[in-house]
Amino acid sequence: MNKLFEQVVIKNIKVKNRIAVPPMVVYTWSDDTGYVTQNNIDHYEAIAKGGAGLIIQEGTCVNKKGRLTDTQLGIWEDAQVVGLKRITDAVHRQGTPIFVEIHHAGVVGIAEEVVCPSDYECMVKGQLKKGHELTIDELHAIQQDFILAAKRAYKAGYDGVEIHACHSYLISQFLNRRINRRDDLYGQHPEFFALEIIREIRQQTPSNFIIGIRLGGFEPTLEDGIAYARIFEESGVDFLDISYGFVQEATPIVPKDYPFKDIIYAAQKIKEAVSIPVFAVNGINSPELADKILEQTDVDMVDIGRGTLVNYNWVNDAKAGRDVGTCLYCKTCMWRVDPMKCPGKLKHQRNQS
Ligand SMILES: Cc1cc2nc3c(=O)[nH]c(=O)nc-3n(C[C@H](O)[C@H](O)[C@H](O)COP(=O)(O)O)c2cc1C
Ligand code: SF4
Repeated sequence: MNKLFEQVVIKNIKVKNRIAVPPMVVYTWSDDTGYVTQNNIDHYEAIAKGGAGLIIQEGTCVNKKGRLTDTQLGIWEDAQVVGLKRITDAVHRQGTPIFVEIHHAGVVGIAEEVVCPSDYECMVKGQLKKGHELTIDELHAIQQDFILAAKRAYKAGYDGVEIHACHSYLISQFLNRRINRRDDLYGQHPEFFALEIIREIRQQTPSNFIIGIRLGGFEPTLEDGIAYARIFEESGVDFLDISYGFVQEATPIVPKDYPFKDIIYAAQKIKEAVSIPVFAVNGINSPELADKILEQTDVDMVDIGRGTLVNYNWVNDAKAGRDVGTCLYCKTCMWRVDPMKCPGKLKHQRNQS
C-alpha cells in the first residue's frame, strides 16, 4: 500500500490517510424532528475509531420541505446544533475531521408540493412526482437555507461542509440541462444557484471552514462534469467529490480497457483538469483496489462507503493486513432500512467470532 496510508492535505487540515467515508443516510434512528440520536453519535464515533482519515456525515437536510424521508437528519433549525455537536465532539475525540453533507431533495423529495428548477415530472418509488418550477423568491429562500445550514454546521464544530450537488437532488437538477430549462439567469448559467450559495457561505464563515462539493461526473456528460468542476474550483471550493449525476447520457465514453468503473474515470479526468483535491467513489471493495486507483488515476482520496457499513474497522483492518469484510452490494442497501439486516455485516461478524 504505497499511497493509501499517505497523509493528504485538504486546505488547512492534515488528513492522516487517503480514505474518506462518504455520506450515507441511515433513516431508522432519527424521527420527524430530524434530531440526532445516540445511535447516530455511536455510529460516527465507531467509524472514526475504525481509522478513516475523514468522515463526511450523511445527507443532512437544510429544510424540512426538502427531505428524502421523514426521518432524515436535519440542520434546518438552530436547536439541531446541540445534537450535531455531539457527533462532531465524538469524532474529534478520535482525532478525525468531519464534514457534513448539506442536502435538499428538490423534485424527488417527500413533501406534498415538491419543487424543481423547471416544471418536471418523474416517478419516485412508484409514485408520480410533479415538481413545480421554483419562483425566484422560493429559489432565493432555498439558497438561504443552504447558507444558514452551513453556518450551523460551523457552530456545531464540523470542519467543513460538502454541498450535495449530485445523485438527482436539487442542485443536480439545476446543473443538469435536461432538467433545468429555466430562461432566467439560473437557467442560462445552471451553476449560478450553487455558486451564489458557495460565495455566501465563504463570506459568512471563517476562512478556514472547508467547502466542498459532491458533483456528478456525468451531468449529463463528462464534458459537463469537467466544465462544472473547473467553475467550482475557480469559485474557491476546497475539494470535489465525484459521483453520479441525474440523467446522464446513455453510455459515457470510457476507454474499453479502462480498469476501473466509469465514475472513477470521470474523477480521473476531472483531476486532470483541476488542482484541488478530488475524491473518487463506487464499489471500492478492497485496500488493493483502493491503492491501485490512487496510484493509477492521481485522485487524492478514495471513498469507502458500504465497505465501512459492513465493517466499521475497515481502515484499521486494511492497515494491519486483516480481512476487511465483504459487502454483497445488495440491490437495496439495508442500512437505509434496518442496519441489523445487513447480510454483509453479519457475515463479517460471524467470521470474526
Ligand atoms: C445506505 C446508503 C446511504 C447513502 N446516502 C448517501 C447520502 O446521504 N449522500 C450521498 O451523497 N450519497 C449517499 N450514498 C452513496 C454513497 O455515498 C456512495 O457514493 C455509494 O454507496 C458508492 O460507494 P460504495 O460503493 O463505496 O458504497 C448512500 C449509499 C448508501 C449505501
Ligand atoms: S451487504 Fe448489503 S446491506 Fe450490507 S452494506 Fe453491503 S449493500 Fe448494504
